[in-house]
Amino acid sequence: MSPTPPPSGPPSGAPSDTLKAVAAGRGKLVGTAVQAGFLSDPPYNAVAGREFNYLTAEYQMKWNVIEPSRGVRDFGPGDAIAGFAASQGMRVKGHTFLWHGATPSWVNALPADELRVAVEQHIRAVADHYRGRIHAWDVVNEAIADGGGSALRDTVFRQKLGDRYIADAFRAARAADPSALLFYNDYGGEGSGVKADRIYALLQELLANGVPIDGVGLQMHIAAGSRPSDGAIAANMRRLAALGLIVHISEMDVRINDTAGSEQMRLEAQRTTYQDVVRVCMLEPRCEAVTFWGFTDAHTWLSGDRPLLFDARYQPKPAYDGVLEALRGR
Ligand code: G3I
Repeated sequence: MSPTPPPSGPPSGAPSDTLKAVAAGRGKLVGTAVQAGFLSDPPYNAVAGREFNYLTAEYQMKWNVIEPSRGVRDFGPGDAIAGFAASQGMRVKGHTFLWHGATPSWVNALPADELRVAVEQHIRAVADHYRGRIHAWDVVNEAIADGGGSALRDTVFRQKLGDRYIADAFRAARAADPSALLFYNDYGGEGSGVKADRIYALLQELLANGVPIDGVGLQMHIAAGSRPSDGAIAANMRRLAALGLIVHISEMDVRINDTAGSEQMRLEAQRTTYQDVVRVCMLEPRCEAVTFWGFTDAHTWLSGDRPLLFDARYQPKPAYDGVLEALRGR
């Protein structure tokens, strides 16, 4: 399935020096994770609407939020995010059908035969609800083990459904919403190394078996001064693209608390890191999108750090300039 081309340049009259205007001019999506509860805050929705053309629900499209109790689904927060995106002409990344980190407790307790049915019902119900409003789904998130013997993480899905749960999830998602691109998403495999090789091998095998997978998300949760090299990221993107996959940088943030030097030096190292990594995506034709895991340090899962493009008062940091320069091809 070929990717839907991202929106073209800014509509007439829109500011031409925003992240999304420059990204769209280069045929790329630039996105952010958002939380529904903040969309009513003027500074939050103003920056989100002005700078980004691709939204990911940070947690409100996950199974444990949609269906905390069996059979009772609440799509309210996810719909608020999808509605905001639609009002701003943005695309939406659905995140995520299956993740051991956001599975309702009642699901974890199911016997294997009931779990298999519950997984299929969940994917079908959620894909049905959002059909036509989702550019891409993260179908399976973080199924690869960080190290040790088995390549696959020993999640409840693998324990009870076997390794085939991944292929089954992608097939269920394709059947439920043929219009959405289907992604595998993970962290720690952005460059070279065991986990990157395990992710590559998993995707290569699934594709060889005819499993409908369109793309891969490289989360890119990194630290300034401690990350895969540009060359390793580029080589990994190239080999994934050679499988026919679209590549997304899907959850980028850059920690600086442990970066040496003054605050000014930390912010400069952060800027350089953002610019260098985003430039790798700009140079890879199959890298369709860069999504940041939030955009203001006021709301980050990395509490206590300052990993994002805007400070807690919604002022752009040097990191913002670094991303803008990379989007401009510098
Ligand atoms: O907003 C509510 C608040 O009103 C309530 O008082 C509080 C206590 O219940 O919960 C708050 O919501 C929390 C939300 O983060 C916002 O802080 C949820 O409980 C909590 O589960 C949620 O955690 C999210 C986590 O995934 C689990 O879903 C994080 O925001 C989110 O950044 C994190 O994102 C993951 C990706 O999905 C996968 N990759 C790793 C990444 C970081 O862990």
